[in-house]
Amino acid sequence: MLKVNHHEYRIVLDARVTLLDALREYLGFTGTKKGCNFGECGACTVHLDGWRVNACLVLAASAVGCDIITIEGLAGEGDALHPVQQAFIDRDAFQCGFCTPGQIMSAVACIIEDHTRSDAEIREWMSGNICRCAAYPQIVAAVRQAAGN
Ligand code: FES
Ligand code: FES
Repeated sequence: MLKVNHHEYRIVLDARVTLLDALREYLGFTGTKKGCNFGECGACTVHLDGWRVNACLVLAASAVGCDIITIEGLAGEGDALHPVQQAFIDRDAFQCGFCTPGQIMSAVACIIEDHTRSDAEIREWMSGNICRCAAYPQIVAAVRQAAGN
């Protein structure tokens, strides 16, 4: 049983299946992206019991019993955008958008962790999320906006 975005899903998986593949290939949560599949790009970032993790490095079996939140589960009541999602739009913080779900999930955690007191601190704590389009200045601006700094 995997609990994703507040719903429980009963699925049978090989013990070697990663959380990323379980989300994308078995449950259809394709908002979580597969970039490197080696823990280097951050495109697969999701929240596991409130902590940001690279889903490509987590076995689905080890996530049983955890609260898993993906980009699809971030919007609020009536699909109102999360403030970080809105800030990414306001600050034009993406180009191709492939890295964006991971960036947003990481940014939400970065704000909760209170690592947003300066641009340098944001860059450091968002450094696990790579953007091939190099939208970094806009991403930092979006995080600052959402953090209210
Ligand atoms: Fe997981 Fe790149 S796909 S870190
Ligand atoms: Fe294209 Fe980040 S917006 S990789």
